[in-house]
Amino acid sequence: MIEGNIERLEKGDVGNIMHRGGTFLKTARSERFRSKEGRQQAYETLRTHDIDGLVAIGGDGTFTGARIFHEEFNVPVVGIPGTIDNDLFGTDYSIGFDTAVNTAIEAMDRIRDTAESHNRLFFVEVMGRDTGYIALNTGIGSGAAAILIPESTKDIDALVKHLAKATKRQKLFSLVVVAEGNENGTAQELAEQIKVKFPEYDSRVTIIGHLQRGGAPSALDRMIASQMGFKAVEAILAGHTNVMVGIQNQKIALVPFDEALTKRKAIDEELLRMAEILSM
Ligand code: F6P
Repeated sequence: MIEGNIERLEKGDVGNIMHRGGTFLKTARSERFRSKEGRQQAYETLRTHDIDGLVAIGGDGTFTGARIFHEEFNVPVVGIPGTIDNDLFGTDYSIGFDTAVNTAIEAMDRIRDTAESHNRLFFVEVMGRDTGYIALNTGIGSGAAAILIPESTKDIDALVKHLAKATKRQKLFSLVVVAEGNENGTAQELAEQIKVKFPEYDSRVTIIGHLQRGGAPSALDRMIASQMGFKAVEAILAGHTNVMVGIQNQKIALVPFDEALTKRKAIDEELLRMAEILSM
C-alpha cells in the first residue's frame, strides 16, 4: 500500500494456491506504516486504485495498525488472524498454527527415534515468542515428558522433580518441549542446568525454528483460511469494520478489534494439567 504496489487479482490469479505455504502476497513488519506519513501514503494509494475496504491478515501488530488506519482515514477494515502463535483473543485458531504444530510433532517423532535408540534426553525448542500454544499442543501430541511455556511457572526444580520420577521407573529417554519465550530459560540453558543434576542423561538440544513456518498447509488450516476469507469479504460488504473474523467452538464469529487486542488469551489450564498427568 505504501509503495503503490497494487495489482488487481482476477479469479485465475488466486487459483492453484491452496496447497502452498507462505504467502504470495508477501508479508513484512512495516516501520513506515507506524508513522502517520506512511499511513497517509498508503491511504493515497487506496484512493488512487478506488479501493474502499481492507482485509488485514496477521496478528496483533497488524490489527493495531489496521485499527489506527481506520480511525485516521475511515476505511473499513476487517482482520483475519494469521499467526502461528495462535495467541489472539477471540479465536480458537489462527491460520498457520495447526500446520506449525503438525510440523513440530513430525519433528518430535523423528527426534524420539534418536532419543530412544541412544537413551538421550532432548530439549526441543519450538516457536512462541510470548505464548506457549505451539509448545503445549506439540508436547501433548508427541507425548513429551515435560512442556515449558511462558504462561506456566514450572521452574528448573519442578522439571528436575518431574524427570526424577521418570528415571525412578527406569525411563531412559525423554523429550522436553520448550517454548521460545519460556521465562525460566531457553532449551539450551535448561539442558545445561539439567546436565548438572542428571549426569547419567546424555542430553541434546534441537531448535526447530523457522521449519515451523513453511510447508503445505494442514487440512484444518485450509478449512479455516477458506472460511475466514469468505466471511471477511461478506463482513466488509455488510458494512462491518474494526472486527476480526474468529473461530469459536467451530463457528465463525466477528470479534471487535478492541477485544481481540486488549484481552489476553489465557492458556487452557485444564490442558496443562492433563499434559502433566499424562506425562507421569
Ligand atoms: O509471531 C510469530 C513468530 O513466528 C514467533 O513465534 C517467532 O518468535 C517470530 O515470529 C519469529 O520472527 P522472525 O521470523 O522475524 O524471526
